[in-house]
Amino acid sequence: MKLSTLSLAITLLGSTLFGSAAMAASKEPIQPIAAAKVTNPALVELGKKLYFDPRLSKSGFISCNSCHNLSMGGTDNIKTSIGHNWQEGPINAPTVLNSSLNVAQFWDGRAADLKAQAGGPIANPGEMAFTHTLAINVLQSIPGYVAEFKKAFGSEVVDIDKVTKAIAAFEETLVTPNSRFDKWLKGDKKALSKAELEGYKLFKDSGCVACHNGPAVGGNSFQKMGVVEPYKASSPAEGRVAVTGKDADRFNFKVPTLRNVEMTYPYFHDGAANTLKEAVDVMGRLQLGKKFTDEENAKIVAFLKTLTGDQPNFKMPILPPSADATPRPTPFEKK
Ligand code: HEC
Ligand code: HEC
Repeated sequence: MKLSTLSLAITLLGSTLFGSAAMAASKEPIQPIAAAKVTNPALVELGKKLYFDPRLSKSGFISCNSCHNLSMGGTDNIKTSIGHNWQEGPINAPTVLNSSLNVAQFWDGRAADLKAQAGGPIANPGEMAFTHTLAINVLQSIPGYVAEFKKAFGSEVVDIDKVTKAIAAFEETLVTPNSRFDKWLKGDKKALSKAELEGYKLFKDSGCVACHNGPAVGGNSFQKMGVVEPYKASSPAEGRVAVTGKDADRFNFKVPTLRNVEMTYPYFHDGAANTLKEAVDVMGRLQLGKKFTDEENAKIVAFLKTLTGDQPNFKMPILPPSADATPRPTPFEKK
C-alpha cells in the first residue's frame, strides 16, 4: 500500500539526510519552527495593516482577520467561514499561522504561494466580494496608505501586485516557534510530561508521521482523506482533483499543519470534527485502520497540545482613515 512506501520513504529520509548529523533533534520526523526574519519592516507593517483592513471588502466589514483571527490561532473557529452578505462558505478556513511552510496554499493547493493566494479572497464573491480594481481605488484614495506604499516600494502607485506582496510578507512573520515540543526537540528533556512523550511515541509508531512531519507537522504533501475507510464529508469539495483533473487526486487534500492544532478547531476540510479527540479517532481508523483506546487517544491529544507555539505578538495596527474622496462600502445587498 501507498502508506507503507511513504513511511519507508520517511524512514529512509531520516537515516540518509539527517541520520549521521550531529543534532539529536534532526533524527526526529518533526523539526523545530524557526523564528521569522524580517528583512523589510516597512513592507511587513503595510501588510499587517492590509491584513486587518475591512475596506478591502465590498461590505467594508470583512478583513482577512475576520476569518483568520490572529487572536484565535489564525482561524475563525467555525465549521465553514461566513463571507459577504452572511454567505456560508463551502469549506473550513485553515490557519494562516506557519502557512509560509506549506507546499502550496488552500486545501487543494490551487495557489502556489502566499502572494498568489492573497488576491483570491478579496475578489471571491463568497468572501470579501470586492474587485481588485475597486480595492486599489480605495487604497489609492487614502493618503496614509499612499505614504506607506511609497515607504515600502519607493513609489506612490498602488497596485494588486504590491498589495499581495505586502500581505504575504506579513504572513511570513506569522510563525509560531518555542512550543514545548520544540523545546524538547532542542534538548530540554523536561519540557514534556510522561504522557505527552508517550503520545508522541504513539504518533510516530502508529504511522501518523508518514503524513504529518517536517517543521509544520504537515503542510508538505497532498494525501487521500480516507485511506483505509472512506470519509463521509459534509462538504462537496473533492480536493486536489480540482487542480490536476486526475481521478487519482479525488479526495486528496493538503495535509494540514498540526502546529497550534489545539486552537484551530473545528477540524478537517469540512470542519466536521469538533474536538481533537474526535479528529484523532477518525485519523486512526480512516488513515491507519487503527482503533485507539481512550487512554491512547488522550495521550496523542496531550502530545498534539504541546505543538502550540508563541502566537504572533505585535501592536494592534491603527489603520489610516479614509479621505473624503474614498469610495464608501456597501454593507448590505438585496438578494
Ligand atoms: C470569508 C472568510 C475568509 C476571508 C475574509 C479570508 N479567508 Fe483566507 N481562507 C478562507 C477559507 C475558507 C480558506 C480555505 C479555502 C480553500 O482551501 O478552498 C482560506 C484559505 C487561506 C489560506 C491558505 C492556508 C492553507 O493552509 O492552505 C491563506 C494563506 C489565507 N486564506 C489567507 C487569507 C488572506 C491573506 C485574506 C485577506 C486578503 C483571507 N485569507 C481572507 C476564508 C477566508
Ligand atoms: C495518509 C496520510 C495521513 C495519516 C497517516 C494521518 N493523517 Fe492526519 N490528516 C491527513 C489529511 C489529508 C488530513 C486532512 C483531511 C481532511 O480535512 O479532509 C488530516 C487531518 C488531521 C487532523 C485535523 C487537522 C485540521 O486542522 O483539520 C488531525 C488532528 C490529524 N490529521 C491527526 C492525525 C493523527 C493523530 C494521525 C495518526 C493517528 C494522523 N493524522 C494520520 C493525512 C494523514
